[in-house]
Amino acid sequence: MTEQLDQQARDIMTGNDRGGYTVPTSGLYPYQWNWDSMFAAWGFSTFDRARAWVEAETLFASQWENGMVPHIIFHREVPEYFPGPEVWGRERSPATSGISQPPVAATLIRWIYEADRAEGAAHLRALYPKLLAWHRWFMAHRCERGMIVVTHPWESGRDNAADWDAAMANVDGSGVGEYTRRDTSHVDGSMRPTKEQYDRYLALVHFGRDCHWDEEVIRQSSPFRVADPGMSFIFLRACRDLAALGAELGEDTSEIAGWIAALEEGAASHWNPERGHYDSVDIRTGRFSGALSSGAFLCWYAGVGGDAMLPALERIMQAVRYPVPSLDPADPRFDAPRYWRGPMWGMFNALIARGLAEAGHGAIAEDLRRRTAECIARNGFYEYFNPVTGAPAGGGLFTWTAAIWLTWASPAAEGRV
Ligand code: GLC
Repeated sequence: MTEQLDQQARDIMTGNDRGGYTVPTSGLYPYQWNWDSMFAAWGFSTFDRARAWVEAETLFASQWENGMVPHIIFHREVPEYFPGPEVWGRERSPATSGISQPPVAATLIRWIYEADRAEGAAHLRALYPKLLAWHRWFMAHRCERGMIVVTHPWESGRDNAADWDAAMANVDGSGVGEYTRRDTSHVDGSMRPTKEQYDRYLALVHFGRDCHWDEEVIRQSSPFRVADPGMSFIFLRACRDLAALGAELGEDTSEIAGWIAALEEGAASHWNPERGHYDSVDIRTGRFSGALSSGAFLCWYAGVGGDAMLPALERIMQAVRYPVPSLDPADPRFDAPRYWRGPMWGMFNALIARGLAEAGHGAIAEDLRRRTAECIARNGFYEYFNPVTGAPAGGGLFTWTAAIWLTWASPAAEGRV
């Protein structure tokens, strides 16, 4: 059974390989997505290490001059995809979007490298300056009070999370005009963001495009700027891994050490003392968003906060059969099948579990792995799952679900990086 599922996962990954980059799933997502691609690289590293490095190299080949690594790279023309390159207004070859995505790259590259240092050495040497430039971009343009800010919900990777509700109310979506969405023609609309949310997403893209993605203008006048614990924790972790990689290469890593110190301090600003959990902060108003979402449980992965989040995690692990839900089931906005407002996402669990295991919570990490594996084995390699019933949702034959199966969830993956 395990061998069959492992093979199926490898087949999904090779089936989604478009030559140099891997699509998240065919149809719904026809391009290269930033963090999906890094999970793909991690998955490939279990059976084709050379291909893993190619994935990372293709992603970083589209890095902007200012260091930003875009969230989508439009390698080929798919006229019916929306919002495509023309909406983003950055029509180089290949065209890209104008925002970034969670910077898991340094961490996953470290894990891939450490699995085979000899093979990875030359690749690491070439990628290191690019990773450093991307991290510099985050520190220069996305860091406030030691927290990482997103300027579009899509930048967080958690598109329609409840974290953004209050801040999105400040975004006027009324002028975006007519358009046809692509996502709802592939999957059930009840599992996707609403039209009203989508109008506001587009208004934010228009804002960035109209100022030519000038980061100073975005910082000063974007209608949406929210510090996200998911991003802050992923970035802090990535800085630690980048420093380790730099040390391995004999580089001076003091600049990175300074970032780590600032980010460790910033983590405390995410703590919502009234609600007792890490929370998003609207930078424009200074208010917490009051949403306990999966990003908060990356605190162990980031190496911060001790066990302050343990009671919340234990409660949630009891409340649903397939944790970790993207939103607290006790939140009135919890919506079990809807995208980032309830569902469980396997790749998020892989990171949360890694942090838990490193912090000495091996039993919880193993429980999370077992339940994630059960859900995938019963339902297939879907994009995400209803955390109460396990019902699969979103796209099928999904790259990152296959990748985290191979690297972490599969019984055969035990002990693997
Ligand atoms: C959705 C997800 C995002 C992911 C993308 C491709 O937009 O919210 O995290 O990168 O799909 O899978």
